[in-house]
Amino acid sequence: MPLITFNDILPQARRDKRAVAAFNVANLETLLSVFKAAEAEKSPVIIQVYQRLFKDERAGLIAAMTRSLAAESGIPVALHLDHGESLEQLRKAIGIGYTSVMIDGSKLPFAENIALTAEAAKIAHKAGVTLEAEIGHVPFGDGEIELSTAAEAAEFVEKTGADALAISIGTIHGFYKKAPVLDIARAREIGGRVAIPLVLHGGTGVPDEQLRLAIGCGITKVNIATELQSTFLKGVAAEIAANGDTFKPVDLYFKPVEEKIKEYARAKIKILR
Ligand code: 13P
Repeated sequence: MPLITFNDILPQARRDKRAVAAFNVANLETLLSVFKAAEAEKSPVIIQVYQRLFKDERAGLIAAMTRSLAAESGIPVALHLDHGESLEQLRKAIGIGYTSVMIDGSKLPFAENIALTAEAAKIAHKAGVTLEAEIGHVPFGDGEIELSTAAEAAEFVEKTGADALAISIGTIHGFYKKAPVLDIARAREIGGRVAIPLVLHGGTGVPDEQLRLAIGCGITKVNIATELQSTFLKGVAAEIAANGDTFKPVDLYFKPVEEKIKEYARAKIKILR
């Protein structure tokens, strides 16, 4: 089927108290493995791509591959720009076929984040695609967590028209030094004030039972990048080490690793639904 938008899957998922996994892919192998995992689970999936891949032809090529896989399949697939950094980048993503985009104004002062996101929503909606935005701040690595508040969430959604809202409830992007404890009370309060699907960034390393609790509060999309990509890289490194100095074509190194990624993604999809 053709690629779908967040609005085709997430509002219903929120009503059903389940979440859709959003995996950051970066090449053919990670895309294909995630796609096969979703097909095996007969589950909708969000394929998302970091903004830096939009700086050359990669995001467009991933879009073409994703469209082609989805066209031959019965599962709903949304294709999303993750952490879009400018309106220009959003326009580019829409132009090359992304069905959903994120504008990340989370480091801006609140009023500026609202203004930028409202502008982004107009651009996205005019093109028939959905918009994700973020309040509070989910840092990369050692950065400072800035927790979201329910009052800000309610005001932000009302003034921007965003379709999905990423909230900060204790996660970071990347591996944790010790397992995170999410602020579930905060998530519940935000979910009580905001009806649109909520997004959890930093899905790597969050314990399963915490994910389930967060989903009960309205988290409807869970982003997973680091652990998936690390599984890929470590798998390839192990294949190379095992093969020694003999030449082996690239695809033969990747093939066994694709199976590992697929199993990893299947396990995550099962936990979220
Ligand atoms: P992780 O890299 O921590 O899994 O986070 C992914 C993410 O939130 C992408 O936006």
